Amino acid sequence: MLKKLAPSILDIDFTCLERELRKIESGGADLLHLDIMDGNFVPNISFGPRIVESIKNITSLPLEVHLMVEKPENHIKSFINAGGDIIIVHYETSKHLDRLIQIINEANVKSGIALNPATTLSVIEYLINKIDLLLLMTVNPGFGGQKFIPEMITKIEKARKIIDNQKKSISLEVDGGINLDNISEVIKAGAEIIVVGQIIFKSANPEMTIKKIKNIMNK
Ligand code: DX5
Ligand code: ZN
Repeated sequence: MLKKLAPSILDIDFTCLERELRKIESGGADLLHLDIMDGNFVPNISFGPRIVESIKNITSLPLEVHLMVEKPENHIKSFINAGGDIIIVHYETSKHLDRLIQIINEANVKSGIALNPATTLSVIEYLINKIDLLLLMTVNPGFGGQKFIPEMITKIEKARKIIDNQKKSISLEVDGGINLDNISEVIKAGAEIIVVGQIIFKSANPEMTIKKIKNIMNK
């Protein structure tokens, strides 16, 4: 299964967004990971639908919207209208997750559920066949540049087994603290879409870094 790289633009230089996006595109990114933070569900505040719309207008890469917000039901429509191709909601932010996923699926965009490190896989048992993507957080959400939580390797392996037993094709994505030293282990555990943020945007040459990551991913 071809692995995909989704750079998180949380730490991109927003003063030259287009120039930076061109580097990501030429490096070979497969999709863009947009971290939406509300300062409530997570301590940080990032950006909203207006920025997503501007990004949609300057790239043809698919946009995955990682909603780290309380009451995601109040925001889904605006991120879909802004051009989100995949809408990922956190299990921890909704009492009516099945209804949330239904709303996303009915809008004809892809749906995903994100789980925080301490949330067990069992919570998605009755929903797994309704989503297109399962996102496992490998850091506690809120910031880029954090350390990968090693216990998440077994969680990725368990999620891989659950997904492989489903009829529907569901992507397994991991997010947080992934770097050149741990990416092979994460892929071996069964991840197929990898989110990478700071090691790309803090590097002197983001395009080269993306190419390096993609080489390791698809070895
Ligand atoms: C954290 C975000 C991640 C993060 C990834 O809450 O969901 O997408 O930006 O960045 P790195 O790769 O720097 O951990
Ligand atoms: Zn994210």
